[in-house]
Amino acid sequence: MDKSFNYIISPEISEFRRFSPKLRIGVLASGNGTNFQELINLSEKGELDIDIKVLITNKEDAGCIKRAENGEIPFKIIRSKDFAQKEFFELEIINTLNNFDVELVVMAGWMKIVTPFFITKFKNKIINIHPSLLPAYKGSSAINDSILNGSKITGCSVHFVDEEVDSGSLIIQAALSIRDDDDIESLSEKIHMLEHKILPHSISHAGFLIRSNSMENY
Ligand code: GAR
Repeated sequence: MDKSFNYIISPEISEFRRFSPKLRIGVLASGNGTNFQELINLSEKGELDIDIKVLITNKEDAGCIKRAENGEIPFKIIRSKDFAQKEFFELEIINTLNNFDVELVVMAGWMKIVTPFFITKFKNKIINIHPSLLPAYKGSSAINDSILNGSKITGCSVHFVDEEVDSGSLIIQAALSIRDDDDIESLSEKIHMLEHKILPHSISHAGFLIRSNSMENY
């Protein structure tokens, strides 16, 4: 892939905040987990002061599981179909996050809509990464939708999660051009590259707000 494409990140990224003790995060992921892997790498290198307490996935065959095993990170598979009601499914997730004393919940490719029941339990403590310039292209096929719609610019966003789907205060966005010869694969690859840049900085920023009790002013 051409890694030299132009992009804009806003707000501009500087250094990571330092956390002592390390910021305790729980990651929710449903897929391959390249964003999760980036967090593991930065944590292992000592560049980002996070303690990844647990990975929760809703897919028993998700690639993120292997990454957790390799990184020696506890993981739990919680499948909605094993619960009679969505509330019980979410309660299991909530209890797991609380058992691991998680301060910040990071949705890194989590493809399950969460209800207000879940969100209120972690008010202002959940962030999500999404592969579009929100509020454009919400939903589960954002990259494809941007191509089908003939958009010339797209990107990715990290935001605090509120009661609406793919909504809530934006933390960082990255934008890039969609070229005429881009397809879903090439565009996904470029967006992933940008996601790996903005997610760690968003965690750093969100962690700073949480630790300094500044969320009310955000
Ligand atoms: C990422 O592109 C993320 O933005 C997207 O899933 C992908 C996960 O990639 N999330 C959503 O679409 C949420 N609506 P990864 O598994 O390689 O980190």
